[in-house]
Amino acid sequence: MTVRTRADLASLPSYVPGKSIPGAIKLASNEVSAGPLPSVVKAISEAAASINRYPDSGAVELTGRLADKLGVPADHLAIGCGSVTLCQQLVQATCADGEEVLFAWRSFEAYPIVTHVAGARQIRVPLNSEHTHDLDAMLAAITPNTRMVFVCNPNNPTGTALRTEEIEAFIAKVPRDVLVVLDEAYKEFVDDAHVPDGVELAKQQWAAGHNNVAVLRTFSKAYGLAGLRIGYAVAPPVVADVLRKVYVPFSVNALAQVAAMASLDAEDELMVRCRAIVAERGRVRGELLAMGFEVPETQANFVWLPLGERTAAFNEHCLAHKIVVRAFVGEGARVTIGEPDENDAFLAAARAFTS
Ligand SMILES: Cc1ncc(COP(=O)(O)O)c(C=O)c1O
Repeated sequence: MTVRTRADLASLPSYVPGKSIPGAIKLASNEVSAGPLPSVVKAISEAAASINRYPDSGAVELTGRLADKLGVPADHLAIGCGSVTLCQQLVQATCADGEEVLFAWRSFEAYPIVTHVAGARQIRVPLNSEHTHDLDAMLAAITPNTRMVFVCNPNNPTGTALRTEEIEAFIAKVPRDVLVVLDEAYKEFVDDAHVPDGVELAKQQWAAGHNNVAVLRTFSKAYGLAGLRIGYAVAPPVVADVLRKVYVPFSVNALAQVAAMASLDAEDELMVRCRAIVAERGRVRGELLAMGFEVPETQANFVWLPLGERTAAFNEHCLAHKIVVRAFVGEGARVTIGEPDENDAFLAAARAFTS
């Protein structure tokens, strides 16, 4: 006799640890290559002396800081153990068994997983030929069972971004009882003025009485705290409230909360880093285009190479050059923008790819 586990979980892939290649350059996870700022390390070290205590489960101080920064009341915020956990909380908070979550595909890999684990049904709408959300097709895929739509802007893994008027026109046609979640994990790398700040867009929607828009942000990318796991949702109070109800108590740890606040203190310094990454992004994309690769315009801290059947060979080739990229076999490779020397090493590998 064996323990009975949920049969439907058999269809989910088991965790496979990432390949560790000594000395390799890791450009696979959209992290920031530069290490944490000394001021942030200092804040974490000081807070380490109190880790015998539970963290503030309400993250009250950080919530207040974010509310001030974003210009929203504190009841519009929910802090989570990484924005991926907030994705899961959003599904748990909106969907009963079998209700539907809609998202573009390919998009953030966690959407299908968190949707399935929460017992909801995933509806994937293929990206269009420009590797961008097909918003008309997404609208057409909404049914009376749809409870939530993820709009990943910029999209992971393609880097493509939707413009303000496209998103506004989309939201205008989504039924008001369906939550639209703008996932802005890469927002700080956006330099196209036509791509909206989702929080500002959401505020306008709320002011117009449309309470079905929420935004996800993270401290993992631009703020360099991927290892500490902290992100937040900005949402109408009714949504933020249920997010807090499905929150696993104490899951946002004390060091993460302190580091997030220290990172907000050092925001100007961190945004200088982001601008350097954006400049490198332009350089890397330009060189790849010159080599003959197709590279969609990207607003994130990575580039997407839609290599199709050549993806596996490209991945092997990069590994042989000690560069770890993120390959989606049969579709393409996503390559994070790192430090200039890391990008140079990747470009040299790409230049030598002949298959
Ligand atoms: C689009 C998108 N959303 C959310 C996340 C989750 O970030 P985290 O859980 O580290 O906050 C990621 C991470 O890669 C992402 O690409």
